[in-house]
Amino acid sequence: MIKMKLLIALSGASGAGYAIEFLKEISKHKEIEVELIFSEYSEKILELEENSSLNELKKYAKKVYDNSDLAAAPASSSYLIDAMIVLPCSIKTASEIATANCGTLISRAADNMLKMKKKLIVCVRETPLSTPVLHNLYNLSLYGAIVFPLSPGFYHKPKDLMELKSFIIGKLFDVLGIENNLFKRWN
Ligand SMILES: Cc1cc2nc3c(=O)[nH]c(=O)nc-3n(C[C@H](O)[C@H](O)[C@H](O)COP(=O)(O)O)c2cc1C
Repeated sequence: MIKMKLLIALSGASGAGYAIEFLKEISKHKEIEVELIFSEYSEKILELEENSSLNELKKYAKKVYDNSDLAAAPASSSYLIDAMIVLPCSIKTASEIATANCGTLISRAADNMLKMKKKLIVCVRETPLSTPVLHNLYNLSLYGAIVFPLSPGFYHKPKDLMELKSFIIGKLFDVLGIENNLFKRWN
């Protein structure tokens, strides 16, 4: 039985590999259903960084939407989603969400999450951050989103890239309330 319906949106920030690992890991949880939205630039980055494609990720999702399809189901808040994660989230998309500039399916669906007071996790990747961006991220947090910078810790002494990614995926699972042992916890 499906217990959680997740909407995962990939935007054009660096870090497409995090989304791939997240989808692999979440697919082990048969009680969780995943739908995907892709932006145009997320596809370019998937190819550039991971030699991957939208086609390869389709297998993890029940449904896949194009970011320009504003008539797709998640454009309406009547469509039931438990949580939405923008992973990775570009500064452009984060800023659109922060200002309710709903011209894409990602920003529209994210605004629905804010409106319905549901969980929205915005996994930004950029450094350093400009003052307007910090302002937007601060506002996102005030509006109820979880601002989740893609900045893994090192206290678990990662041995490779996979352990760095697992730290982030484990933390995302924690935020979603999904039990996991994906990273070594501090004790
Ligand atoms: C190779 C590459 C890497 C990029 N990395 C980032 C990034 O880490 N963070 C970011 O905010 N934008 C990054 N960008 C810029 C975004 O892709 C660009 O702002 C785009 O308009 C985002 O659109 P989207 O949010 O609709 O996908 C990158 C672009 C390219 C081509």
